[in-house]
This record gives sequence, C-alpha cells and structure tokens, in this order.
Amino acid sequence: MSFIIAANWKMNKAPQDTVEFFETFRQTKVADKIKTLFFVPAVNALPTSQAGVNWGPQNIFPAATGAFTGENSPKVMADLGARYVLVGHSERRSLFFETDEQTNIKLHSAQEFGLSPILCVGETLDERKQGLTLEVLQRQLVTGLSNLTPSNELHIAYEPVWAIGTGEVATTEQVSEAHRFIRKFLQEKLPQHHQKMNILYGGSVKPENANELSKTAEVSGFLVGGASLKPDSFHGIIEAVQG
Ligand code: PGA
Repeated sequence: MSFIIAANWKMNKAPQDTVEFFETFRQTKVADKIKTLFFVPAVNALPTSQAGVNWGPQNIFPAATGAFTGENSPKVMADLGARYVLVGHSERRSLFFETDEQTNIKLHSAQEFGLSPILCVGETLDERKQGLTLEVLQRQLVTGLSNLTPSNELHIAYEPVWAIGTGEVATTEQVSEAHRFIRKFLQEKLPQHHQKMNILYGGSVKPENANELSKTAEVSGFLVGGASLKPDSFHGIIEAVQG
C-alpha cells in the first residue's frame, strides 16, 4: 500500500499559480512508496490535468448535468482527467451544511462516474470535550459508507476539526486511537476491501511533524491544507515521510 500525501488547496490559487506550482513541483523526487494527489478548485482543473498529476475536485454534485447552479459535475471532472474526489470535508459540513446522508449520495455518485473518493470524518472540539469522538466517527462512517461497495479506490481521512488550519496538531495518541477505530470499523464492514483502503490524517500537517505522524499506528497518508500551497513545504512533507 502506498502512503498517500494529498494536497487540499481549498479556495486558493488561480490557473496561472497552478501552472507555476507544478513547474516547481515537477522537480520533486517522489519515492515509489508515496502517491501524491491534488484536490484543486474546479477552475484549476485544466492546468492541473495538463501537469499530469493525480488530482480531483474538492466537492461534486451527484449528477452528470442539469439545473444545479454553481455546482461541479463529477462527469465533467472525470472527462477532464480527475481520478479522485474529496467528500464530506469538515468545511463542507460546517459551512455548507452537508449531512452524512449527502456524503453517502456523493460517494455513490463519485464511484458511478469513476472517481475514487476520500471520505473525510472528524469531531469538533465540543464533541471531543464531551467524549463523543468515537461516536461521531461511527455515525459519519455508518451513514457515509451505507450500501457502498468500493468499486475503485476508496480512502478515509481522519481530520479532527479543531486541528484544521489552527496550527494545533492532534497528539499521536489521539491520532492512533481514531485511526485504529476506523481500521476496525473497515475490517468489520468492508472485510474484502479494507486492506486496500488508506486512512489519512489531516489537521496542521507540516514538514516538522510529518515524520512522527507518518509512523503513528494506522496512519497511511496525509491530507494537507495550508502546507500544500507552497512547493517547498509540500516537498518538505514528502521528504519527511520518505525519511
Ligand atoms: P490544514 O488543513 O493542513 O491547513 O490544517 C487540512 C484540511 O483541511 O484538509
């Protein structure tokens, strides 16, 4: 299983910035055991595709075409060369009121159009303080993965909401507890597929903490926001994992 290092650019970068990023990134040597992915704003689909990297949108609407103002078609993304998609990122859940049921519909749709989804799960600070972390993960996984048989790749990203964009990183104990819980869930619910499923950690991953986090139990990838925007820091994370 390759270790996945996925960039989530969120609503950052114009097409020209994208071209410049990949001109520099192209010089990065990535070991065979590492797979890099880029989740880019839809407006950057073309230059990203032309850069020849693995990429996908940060969100899709579950239909090929239609009267859905402002949404991204998974079919068009796939036609443009996308192979992956993020589903249920915490910013989609908290700012755009996406429910577990909607993440489930989007996962089915992603598979239908040939996109490999990464389902994001994670608790808020309040939920952690109330001791609800594992309960929240269970709910997000049960509903999110309902009636789903992975047809291509399917991965999970554990992102504690309180660690995203805050500079605050979960401790290795917190990360391994959540990742072990997710792995056990996948073993039970998708026994034929779980060995091919990576569990990524996301939340203030940077070159300084990447090595230790990459060695934490059941961590088989990263989803990186802020530190993925500059080729230098993204490269630093890759180097830290390569050791
Ligand atoms: P961050 O974002 O690395 O800036 O914390 C991670 C994410 O939201 O996927």
